[in-house]
Amino acid sequence: MEQRSRTVTSSQTGVHPRLVELVARHRAAPWRKPSQAVDEPALAELNHRLEGHEGALVLDSFCGTGMSTGLLAARHPEALVIGVDQSAHRLARRPDLPDNALLLQAHCEAVWRHLADQERGLAHHYLLYPNPWPKPGHVGRRVHGHPAFPLLVALGGRLELRSNWQLYVEEFGVALLQLGIPPLVQLSPGDAPPMTRFEAKYRQSGHELWRLRAHLPSSGGPHQPDS
Ligand SMILES: C[S@@+](CC[C@H](N)C(=O)[O-])C[C@H]1O[C@@H](n2cnc3c(N)ncnc32)[C@H](O)[C@@H]1O
Repeated sequence: MEQRSRTVTSSQTGVHPRLVELVARHRAAPWRKPSQAVDEPALAELNHRLEGHEGALVLDSFCGTGMSTGLLAARHPEALVIGVDQSAHRLARRPDLPDNALLLQAHCEAVWRHLADQERGLAHHYLLYPNPWPKPGHVGRRVHGHPAFPLLVALGGRLELRSNWQLYVEEFGVALLQLGIPPLVQLSPGDAPPMTRFEAKYRQSGHELWRLRAHLPSSGGPHQPDS
């Protein structure tokens, strides 16, 4: 039987009242959480793949099974396309991937910091259906409320966020604006083929899907050509 997924429900009805203060605090103080041993093998593998790679980098954060990573690798054949997810279970369901795709089991925040420390900018950054964390008390777990958000922004590139929770996308836009970056928020066109398994499931369930696009200026490091 086809499984229908529920829309996101939250007691939060507008942009979180603490969001602006959180973003200001995170902007002022770099994220200092020590790196976790669990991320080390993935970061070592990333280093290995980055050695000698002078071309563009595309990041697919929260990639789940890697379906989108495969599609993006085909769309950007000259780039190294890196999919990151913390779940070994999801990553074990990866499709066959082209040679320019790399899947890493790691926390995305650790990968953002690692790339920022190495001054490796991105050509594109996709965040497709990150966990919404709809409880107001969990605002600090949303990408834009997390202390690593300024690192993500510093990576630069053309960013695309997708979510089935309109407020998540709007909040992300408010946080970007606070950092001086104008976002474009739209309903996603309903006729494009799904890029991810969650997108397919949400579409089948009749959810409204939202997307945000922004061009993040790279804050340093070698320029990554657009691709
Ligand atoms: C709603 S799923 C979306 C997966 C995929 N993008 C899709 O649309 O099918 C969210 C994913 O984020 C992963 N995740 C949650 N927090 C994470 C983190 N901090 N670092 C890496 N992955 C994380 C989960 O394991 C899960 O696969």
